[in-house]
Amino acid sequence: MKLFGCLLQNLSKMRRSTAVNTQWLDYYSQFHPSPVSIQQFLDFGSKDGSSRESYTFLQKELPVRLANIMKEINLLPDTLLTMPSVKLVMSWYEQSFKELIEFENKDCQNHRFMENFTSTLVHIRNRHSNVVETMAQGVIELKESHGIDSNTENRIQYFLDRFYMSRISIRMLINQHTLLFGKKEKNNDPRHIGCIDPSCNVSLVVQDAYENARFLCEQYYLAAPELDIVSRNNAESECESDPIQIVYVPSHLYHMLFELFKNAMRAAVEYHSEESVPPLKVMIVKGQEDLSIKVADQGGGIPRSKLDLLFQYMYSTAPQPARSDIATAPLAGYGYGLPLSRLYARYFQGDIVLNSFEGYGTDAIIYLKVLSNEANEMLPVYNKTASRVYHTDIPVNDWSSPWQTNQRSVSSFAKMRC
Ligand SMILES: Nc1ncnc2c1ncn2[C@@H]1O[C@H](COP(=O)(O)OP(=O)(O)OP(=O)(O)O)[C@@H](O)[C@H]1O
Ligand SMILES: [Mg+2]
Repeated sequence: MKLFGCLLQNLSKMRRSTAVNTQWLDYYSQFHPSPVSIQQFLDFGSKDGSSRESYTFLQKELPVRLANIMKEINLLPDTLLTMPSVKLVMSWYEQSFKELIEFENKDCQNHRFMENFTSTLVHIRNRHSNVVETMAQGVIELKESHGIDSNTENRIQYFLDRFYMSRISIRMLINQHTLLFGKKEKNNDPRHIGCIDPSCNVSLVVQDAYENARFLCEQYYLAAPELDIVSRNNAESECESDPIQIVYVPSHLYHMLFELFKNAMRAAVEYHSEESVPPLKVMIVKGQEDLSIKVADQGGGIPRSKLDLLFQYMYSTAPQPARSDIATAPLAGYGYGLPLSRLYARYFQGDIVLNSFEGYGTDAIIYLKVLSNEANEMLPVYNKTASRVYHTDIPVNDWSSPWQTNQRSVSSFAKMRC
């Protein structure tokens, strides 16, 4: 009886807290996220920013970003929402949102208060560290239990792009705060402002990413292509011979390059299995607006019919790595390398584009903004346009397509021949 009473009490507490959460969620999701540019991150971190101001901004902005994306999660098909891994991810978001709401209307009172806020952020970051894998697992669970039709696949693709982008942005905000004001976390490099390098040497990041991808590639194939780097500095007020630098988050750039190198190496080694592997050619060019990095391989390219699939989550031509491979970092196989890298590039208004020459090789190009005040965060906004996507089917194709044979036209053609 006592136990039953206790359960009832817990249940009603839970209901109350869920109701409170729902109200706050509705409230915060009405606001649009406020994008911050790299320049603003830099100015705040290097000149005038105090932990109190950072708190004031984050205490509103983080719940806004969480609420925007949590509302969108709820628009996913019910079949996906009931998958155990998706439920787990949702519970992490709910918990983190709740923890942030505790700071609602609380002024930064003293040092202890700030420490408490910072450690809450660290907890949230740790809680969310496996979100990408767990969400991916949720999609696999759906595929295995119900199958995924093309409408659902489209919606999931749309959602994952926005969901992972939101995650990148939330981590960026948290990292800036904890690196600038956290006691335990300090960046090893004194030049860095939080996780931003005001003079990130692109060539060094290229070499670092290449070396690590090469290590993996040699483990798998006992061979790897060499690297040729060519740089052209055509930026205004810089000499041609100046090393190419950019204000950027080096870990983001490293992530993109590492993924492109792994792909290029795999293609090149497999295509030239019987002969020596031609080198990867990297070209780094800094113009007035764009910094472009091309990774060119001679790995045989990709047929045009497959190009649309490359940025689809889970599209991979490599065998899916066994779970035990996670510890040994597989070279390919999850189908997350390209779509996630493109999100990193787009996050600060850049992009990743692939040009293929089937029968020869592929050029993968990373575009970044040269001017840090133009490198604004790109953030998903929860609004009517977004919610419509989750309720609209893919329009019926209004161009003829060879693989959707129209029975009427086939039979009339057959009749004509008779
Ligand atoms: N440079 C390239 N040359 C040929 N094919 C490529 C190249 N880059 C990507 N691809 C094709 O695109 C697919 C998707 O690439 P992506 O990096 O997203 O996933 P993956 O490499 O299969 O797995 P992972 O998530 O581990 O990176 C690859 O499986 C491969 O078929
Ligand atoms: Mg890959």
